[in-house]
Amino acid sequence: MQTLPRAAVIGAGSSGIAAAKALHERGVPFTCFEASDRVGGNWVFGNRNGMSAAYRQLHINTSRDRMEYSDYPMPKSYPDFPHHTHIAAYFDAYVDHFGFRDAIRFETRVERARRGDDGVWELMLEDGGVERFDALLVANGHHWDPRWPEPAFPGHDAFAGRQMHAHAYRDNDIFADRDVVILGMGNSAMDIAVEASYVARRTFLAARRGAWIIPKYMFGRPVDQLPQDPRVPFKVRQRVIHNLIRMHVGDLTRYGLPKPDHKFGEAHPTVSGRILDRIQHGAITPKPNIAGLDGDAVVFDDGSREHTDDVVYCTGYRISFPFFDEDFIAAPDNHIELFRRVFHPDVDNVFFVALLQPLGATMPLAEAQGQWIADYLKGEYALPPRPALLKDIEDDMAAMRKRYVASKRHTIQVDFDDYLHALGKERRAGAERARQTGFRAPVAARAAGEEAAAA
Ligand SMILES: Cc1cc2nc3c(=O)[nH]c(=O)nc-3n(C[C@H](O)[C@H](O)[C@H](O)COP(=O)(O)OP(=O)(O)OC[C@H]3O[C@@H](n4cnc5c(N)ncnc54)[C@H](O)[C@@H]3O)c2cc1C
Ligand SMILES: NC(=O)c1ccc[n+]([C@@H]2O[C@H](COP(=O)([O-])OP(=O)(O)OC[C@H]3O[C@@H](n4cnc5c(N)ncnc54)[C@H](OP(=O)(O)O)[C@@H]3O)[C@@H](O)[C@H]2O)c1
Repeated sequence: MQTLPRAAVIGAGSSGIAAAKALHERGVPFTCFEASDRVGGNWVFGNRNGMSAAYRQLHINTSRDRMEYSDYPMPKSYPDFPHHTHIAAYFDAYVDHFGFRDAIRFETRVERARRGDDGVWELMLEDGGVERFDALLVANGHHWDPRWPEPAFPGHDAFAGRQMHAHAYRDNDIFADRDVVILGMGNSAMDIAVEASYVARRTFLAARRGAWIIPKYMFGRPVDQLPQDPRVPFKVRQRVIHNLIRMHVGDLTRYGLPKPDHKFGEAHPTVSGRILDRIQHGAITPKPNIAGLDGDAVVFDDGSREHTDDVVYCTGYRISFPFFDEDFIAAPDNHIELFRRVFHPDVDNVFFVALLQPLGATMPLAEAQGQWIADYLKGEYALPPRPALLKDIEDDMAAMRKRYVASKRHTIQVDFDDYLHALGKERRAGAERARQTGFRAPVAARAAGEEAAAA
């Protein structure tokens, strides 16, 4: 009988709880540290951790049946695209259903995570405590550290109105009877522009690049439930979906939006059932990129100028790990090289959960990653030899660069079904490698032993 390594999980959002549940059911001892007083992370409106981007009217844009964990369906009474309150309640119920709430240490932010020369992690906690672990799972989320325009627009420092990032948006009452410019073509920009358009005097949607607007439904079904068999080559699936979307939305320039410079699947999907409608009602006016801010106005790239009270930068997020020394593990420009988005090539006992941006929902992927990490910690999965692992990472990055529009938002993209399919294959291959080496646990269990000796 091997003694299992003791793991720490940072974060009890939807990803951290999925990983924690896997460790719990596989018998790996762990503690999950959560800065907030509850689970659910981003999905807790007004979360006291200050990290949630949820607004009052937020609904998921990946459908219920695709977002739920594989062994815990969302209630069938939920609609296809539930409200954030439903989603937060679902995560809470998940933890109680599988019975691992006791392993979550609430209101305990991890301030620092330092790996000693012996490989053991030392976590410095906000309550002043220091605890040691053999393995570290990072599930701190990547949609809480706002990325403002880089560089800032000329005139931003003398602008007379209000500038805010989408992360701070909660409710549209702040836009009542004001002139609002929303910047971006991602999902935050779509939702916030639509919400603003019901109360603002005028709403402008500014973009530096066009995007395919994917409807929530096609053929009466949520779009993400259309068949996506990973065994069919991506190019074939892409052509089919691209043509369906083109047929559905038509020529986007007819709405005044920029023509996308890419095909479906080459940018993170922008899903909205309402934006085109609001544009066609004259409630939202598309604009090119912002050229600068000038007093109480915004000047756009086409030279037009509009009086503006509010500019909302829906310009995405940075990947941040405030608890690591920056010269140890960081993601400059959102770039971080990991084996299949989980394993660090140089640090054998740190794992990242849901550090990915799926075409599809996040939760089932975090769940599969949690099981994979549990395999590894139990010695039931062995990584490929280092040259193969490095080549896999390089091939993955090269494929992403080739396929996606060059942008800091496209550094951790995966396709939902393809990722799960490939992960299943890799787990089986790694199980065979583990068998050949006698199921040797790759991470030694030191932390618990040290504590026992000290006691
Ligand atoms: C507005 C918006 C809508 C979205 N809609 C969807 C959607 O419809 N479908 C979808 O699949 N994805 C969606 N996403 C993506 C979103 O990232 C995921 O839904 C999900 O929240 C990811 O969960 P997570 O656990 O990785 O991160 P989070 O939800 O951010 O949770 C991270 C947790 O870690 C904790 N934490 C962070 N740092 C520390 C620390 N140092 N110590 C202790 N605890 C810490 C936080 O308190 C938090 O509880 C959306 C994102 C945004 C911003
Ligand atoms: N209802 C929902 O479920 C919902 C709602 C909101 C958000 N989300 C999710 O939350 C995550 C973040 O979405 P997001 O929309 O906030 O961010 P995002 O997807 O990263 O989109 C950022 C947008 O801002 C643009 N941009 C960035 N910097 C810019 C600059 N300097 N000047 C002009 N434009 C700039 C980007 O353009 P380029 O493409 O050119 O870089 C892109 O259009 C995504 O996973 C999204 O799906 C979901």
